[in-house]
Amino acid sequence: MTLSIAPLSPGFVAELSGVDLREKLDDAVIEGIVKAIDRYAVVVFRGQPLTEEQQIAFAERFGPLDIGLKRVSKAGQAAPKERLKNDILIDISNVDADGRPVQRTDPKIVNNIANQLWHSDSSFQSPPAAYSMLSAQTVARKGGDTEFADMRAAYDALDEDMKAELVELVGEHFALHSREILGADNWTQAQKDAIPRVHWPIVRSHPGSGRKLLFIGAHACRVLGMTVPEGRMLLQDLLEHATQREFVYRHKWTVDDLVIWDNRATLHRGRRFDFTEKREMRRSTTVDASGLLPAAA
Ligand code: OGA
Ligand code: MN
Repeated sequence: MTLSIAPLSPGFVAELSGVDLREKLDDAVIEGIVKAIDRYAVVVFRGQPLTEEQQIAFAERFGPLDIGLKRVSKAGQAAPKERLKNDILIDISNVDADGRPVQRTDPKIVNNIANQLWHSDSSFQSPPAAYSMLSAQTVARKGGDTEFADMRAAYDALDEDMKAELVELVGEHFALHSREILGADNWTQAQKDAIPRVHWPIVRSHPGSGRKLLFIGAHACRVLGMTVPEGRMLLQDLLEHATQREFVYRHKWTVDDLVIWDNRATLHRGRRFDFTEKREMRRSTTVDASGLLPAAA
């Protein structure tokens, strides 16, 4: 099997084909995928009907898996009946364990809505996420696309004054900030404490390409050394810059698509869809095993 790579642009998003992800792939193929992600940050596979176990086996080739925000929902709470059999996978759906769309008031809907804010998965924890892999089981008839924004191109396009201003600035990331933006504030102390706040430089270097990037998004809640309003306004301005259409790819899902993105080089967000209709996605996420995504030199 030979991996084929069809770039959508020279530096962002490629469609990969020629391999069956249900099989045990040679190391060379995995390395080829890693290289493609290093270069294009988002890669799209079509027609990959993976079971949960096949998705886990494939994902584990890229590093240890992690449950991210599930740590908050689990903290001190009775475990809800899960739709997925494997706890290491993340259920990105609006469907309950019996296969029915959940009520509009269900916590799952809050999570769906928070995913519609631009973010980098698990930027609120240390180590943060490296790759996320989203497998489409059931797609919405209308809406429900996912958008990806290129944080390396966005950094490159900043003017020199702004680049100079950002050197040494550090953002604070907090797991519940995106939920707070949306007005969801009924958290227990155990949930607030489940994931300690972390600090990451706003400009970082991408390990696989050496390119500088903006590390921002909905989990970033303030900038160290600034008042909360000043920091949030700066983060807001950077986000607005970084998510202009020229930096954005919009993925329209087909069942059995698998999209992999590098959370260290991109932001993403889901788009609206009708919550009374089923949309079922399954995510596996690796952590940055080095834990040391560096500040830009
Ligand atoms: C995610 C996510 C967006 C979507 O799975 O991490 O943000 O479109 N998903 O479901
Ligand atoms: Mn996400």
